[in-house]
Amino acid sequence: MTTAPVPAPGHPPDAFLEVRDLRIHFPTDDGLVRSVDGLSFRLEKGRTLGIVGESGSGKSVTSLGIMGLHTVGQYGRRRARISGEIWLDGKELMSADPDEVRRLRGREMAMIFQDPLSAMHPYFTVGAQIVEAYRVHHDVDKKTARKRAVELLDRVGIPQPDQRADDYPHQFSGGMRQRAMIAMALVNNPELLIADEPTTALDVTVQAQILDLIRDLQQEFGSAVIIITHDLGVVAELADDILVMYGGRCVERGPAEQVFHRPQHPYTWGLLGSMPRIDREQTERLIPVKGSPPSLIDMPPGCAFSPRCPYADVPAGGITRTERPELALVPGTDGHHSACHMTHEERARIWTEEIAPKL
Ligand SMILES: Nc1ncnc2c1ncn2[C@@H]1O[C@H](COP(=O)(O)OP(=O)(O)O)[C@@H](O)[C@H]1O
Ligand code: SF4
Ligand SMILES: [Mg+2]
Repeated sequence: MTTAPVPAPGHPPDAFLEVRDLRIHFPTDDGLVRSVDGLSFRLEKGRTLGIVGESGSGKSVTSLGIMGLHTVGQYGRRRARISGEIWLDGKELMSADPDEVRRLRGREMAMIFQDPLSAMHPYFTVGAQIVEAYRVHHDVDKKTARKRAVELLDRVGIPQPDQRADDYPHQFSGGMRQRAMIAMALVNNPELLIADEPTTALDVTVQAQILDLIRDLQQEFGSAVIIITHDLGVVAELADDILVMYGGRCVERGPAEQVFHRPQHPYTWGLLGSMPRIDREQTERLIPVKGSPPSLIDMPPGCAFSPRCPYADVPAGGITRTERPELALVPGTDGHHSACHMTHEERARIWTEEIAPKL
């Protein structure tokens, strides 16, 4: 994550992907749900960004927003109010023609979902669906597209790909289906791949295989990858940069190494504490972050994490409960940002003396 100055609104960035002040709100009978509320980040080709946060923090809505999917199909049941800028390879997608965004989807940017069955049609064979995904963007005959589909199925590790291409999605195991969806997402060599909880439904061994696969493919294709997960462990080794989301906003972001080893936000400390660890007894493994996620309709004033934060009274004068902390660069770091009223010295002290020894 770079600290380069952000160009003025409306001006193209030098980054491959840049999201600026993204807001995605849903009007509902209970009020306006602010699922994503002022999110900004950038990502270069060949790099992997991990977006981490508890369930309901706005991760999926963010990815659907980038893909331009908030207004179509099953996701568009409620019309979203969306604002901000999404720059992909020099093009601004929010103001782009929806047909143009549709053309980009699948070709320049593709997504893999937690549940492949929601992305694959039950009545068509896996091969036919990959062929179709390819032919939408390439003017080739079926035979050529089929060859490409089989090649991709082979690449993602499906045995006997030529035969398995003629199976229906339900004839695949969960892990194989996830591989097939990755093949479908990659068939057009997209430059941006978003994987939304790609391994959550899979058992641990298969999870590791799929994550390895994504890493290999990323290196091979040089694409920009966003991995979304509620499990920090998943992105520990995979991501170059990490963005921690809380209540539709970013509370901490920076190089993965720094976010892991010198986290600067009490919520991230909580997430690290709740990470399963193989070297611990089962009973010691999960210390969930206490309390519940904030209501996205009635966000707490001030710091959204304050009702759950053990350090809410540390910053002088209870400022934490009235003023919202902005994301600020942690002094002396290369792009490590945190949104917390405590001084970075205070946070560094708490991390080193109180939190890290218990993890
Ligand atoms: N179409 C919608 N209408 C109203 N609220 C929605 C809609 N889609 C998502 N939300 C709400 O937005 C919040 C963030 O959802 P989501 O991005 O799916 O969370 P995550 O992926 O981090 O678990 C949730 O509270 C969810 O209920
Ligand atoms: S601003 Fe205050 S409440 Fe929010 S995370 Fe920092 S210490 Fe906790
Ligand atoms: Mg989600």
